[in-house]
Amino acid sequence: MPFVVIMAGGRGERFWLRSRLAAPKQFLNLVGDKTMLQLTVERMVDLVGISDIYIVAGSDYKDIIMEQVPHLPEENILIEPCGRDTAAAIGLAALILERKDPREVMIVLPADHYISDVHCFRKVLKSAVVAACSGEEIVTIGIAPHRPETGYGYISQGEILDIIAGVPVYRVFQFLEKPDYAKAVRLLACGNYLWNSGMFIWRLDLIRRLIEKHTPQLARGLNKIGQAMGTGQYTAVLEEVYAKLPRISVDYGILEKADSVLVVPGDFGWDDIGSWIALERYAEKDERGNIIEGRGVMLDTSDTFIYSPGKTVGVIGVENLVVVNDRDSILVCRKDRTQEIKKVVQALKDKG
Ligand code: GDD
Ligand code: MG
Repeated sequence: MPFVVIMAGGRGERFWLRSRLAAPKQFLNLVGDKTMLQLTVERMVDLVGISDIYIVAGSDYKDIIMEQVPHLPEENILIEPCGRDTAAAIGLAALILERKDPREVMIVLPADHYISDVHCFRKVLKSAVVAACSGEEIVTIGIAPHRPETGYGYISQGEILDIIAGVPVYRVFQFLEKPDYAKAVRLLACGNYLWNSGMFIWRLDLIRRLIEKHTPQLARGLNKIGQAMGTGQYTAVLEEVYAKLPRISVDYGILEKADSVLVVPGDFGWDDIGSWIALERYAEKDERGNIIEGRGVMLDTSDTFIYSPGKTVGVIGVENLVVVNDRDSILVCRKDRTQEIKKVVQALKDKG
């Protein structure tokens, strides 16, 4: 039975203002009543059972995870002492889980995705697990792209390798993380690129080997942490070593460099509700493409999204804007620049 590891430690900064540090987007109910994390767990329980689901996140998020997923055993929350991005989070989870069975498959999932066809998603995932069983290849799940999105990774689909339970599995020529806009336009036009859904399926021994090969500094740190496991020194070593691990995502650190990558295309109504612009895809627009969530008035305005649960926002004569007015802050951003909202968060942090 594979292990499922849900990465829930992101800060959700592209969702600033709603997603303050205290409650990043995986802990919010952006679509429907349940939070993105709850929906992620729910999609997996029928597949593996709650005792094989693990959530990796910083200690700040432990309470909110326990509150939102009360049936998850506490020891299944794998705590990072600080955020060092996804390569380190995955490495830590792999280190802990390989003690149970290093040849087992690990399914890595983001905690903040929207999936409309859960049945199809499970079917694709099951085939991806079978494809990963040999321990030779990383298996990714690719989504047919339909816009030049710069916030995703792109996977070039090669020749077909296998069909597992009716699901085709392809080789991957190249993995490209977050291209700039011009490149994204070219990749889309190529016709043989898929979006990386951010889910990875691999055997634990394979990912540990790839971390050694492609991110040796991370591997050295993880080995130190591994040596301290089961000793009285563990917590101290984890705190000290983890903070010095290189800060790199698994996409840049491993996927872009790995030779043996497979992709299983999935058509299950997927979206990374990664920024305001993504959330907007699920709301109802008026005839001029405007959306108001909360209180607002728009005059002579088109393709604009207002989110303002409290105060009323008035907008005149603009287009393609996102206007967010929440608690004590206001955000006004051009729609084509919402990926940069994290820069505002950083600038605010720098200002203290
Ligand atoms: N535990 C932990 N620790 N989780 C983290 C950390 C961390 O330091 N940083 C991010 N995460 C979690 C986020 O909460 C999210 O669930 C997941 O890891 C992915 O991080 P994002 O920051 O949302 O990544 P992204 O959206 O920019 O890019 C990734 O996903 C895209 C699709 O959604 C990449 O894999 C892209 O290639 C992919 O297209
Ligand atoms: Mg994301």
